[in-house]
Amino acid sequence: MNAIKIGLLGLGTVGTGVVRIVEKHQEDLMSQVGSPIRIEKIAVKSLEKERSIAVDPAILTQDPWEVIRHPDIDIIVEVMGGVEDTKTYLLDALEHGKHIVTANKDLMALYGSEILAKAVEQQCDVFYEASVAGGIPIIRTLIEGFSSDRITKIMGIVNGTTNYILTKMSREGASYEDVLKEAQQLGYAESDPTSDVEGLDAARKMAILGTLGFRTNVELRDVSVRGISSVSKEDIAYARQLGYEMKLLGIAERHDEGISISVQPTMVRTSHPIAAVSGVFNAVYVYGEAVGETMFYGAGAGEMPTATSVVADLVAVIKNMKLGVNGLRAIVPYKEKKLKADDQ
Ligand code: NDP
Ligand code: HSE
Repeated sequence: MNAIKIGLLGLGTVGTGVVRIVEKHQEDLMSQVGSPIRIEKIAVKSLEKERSIAVDPAILTQDPWEVIRHPDIDIIVEVMGGVEDTKTYLLDALEHGKHIVTANKDLMALYGSEILAKAVEQQCDVFYEASVAGGIPIIRTLIEGFSSDRITKIMGIVNGTTNYILTKMSREGASYEDVLKEAQQLGYAESDPTSDVEGLDAARKMAILGTLGFRTNVELRDVSVRGISSVSKEDIAYARQLGYEMKLLGIAERHDEGISISVQPTMVRTSHPIAAVSGVFNAVYVYGEAVGETMFYGAGAGEMPTATSVVADLVAVIKNMKLGVNGLRAIVPYKEKKLKADDQ
């Protein structure tokens, strides 16, 4: 039976999880897609780096083009991060008829519409479930689960690092610097953690959720952002005394006059379920006109939860390949966005 050959860009926190799941769940994956899945080539920055999994050195390369242009590879799994170079790689891959799975919210928030348009043109898939809320399948839920409804609000905790920091500061009185270091060691933080703590990572995710939920084209500059770097231990302790938890909340709302999206530290009443979302966990509330309130909860970052979403996308791409329907899921009915008057 011919194997489906995958090219991996990146073997860090997420890439390692992808290799582990593909190996460990091979039989179960095969029963779903009808072929073995083989990781054919992996691009990394350093060939010398010690890795926590055993990988055949012959499949490692420092040149991403060797993966992108590999003649036997049908699907590129991008888990290396970066924006401009990565966009060039992925557009080239699409140009050559390869399908994409990516966890890269920076890229999708900035260039998602361009990449998806190219995918539609090339009849290729671009799946990006892991780009928002790690292991929670919120993207396919917004695209498929709520296709029948008109979403009015999306609200939640969409950054694991900052929630981990705020939780430890609140419950253990830990210092901001120490907990940030811990989050980096655990593989939760971005390579430049400024984007986590200054709220940019959450803003990128809210831009993606707003685009999908409101079926419009939300750009990063549409999101007003404030991070947690200026939140002190004293602010958190004071909030607790008053019966609140400090959380970095993303809120996207549809109003009569347009949409508004923000990310900011927010005092949440301890009686609200979102106040109980602790550590690396994320939670996303989606409000629809017909469905009312729904809540999605799970690990928002880390090796295995994130890799779960990546490999689920991989399975979806392979199923589409077999059915000959690639490109359909990439179609997002973008229309002109209408911002609230003060943002225009
Ligand atoms: P890491 O920094 O752990 O891994 C990045 C990997 O990419 C490394 O293997 C690195 O090589 C490789 N790499 C980086 N630049 C290049 C390059 N120019 N050429 C070849 N290889 C390169 O990142 P993560 O795994 O944490 O994150 C990957 C992506 O997933 C990012 O877009 C991130 O935002 C996203 N993401 C991360 C989550 C998480 O919990 N960590 C959750 C959801 C999404 P080497 O190993 O040699 O250094
Ligand atoms: N740095 C991100 C976070 C990774 O902490 O949520 C998951 O997207």
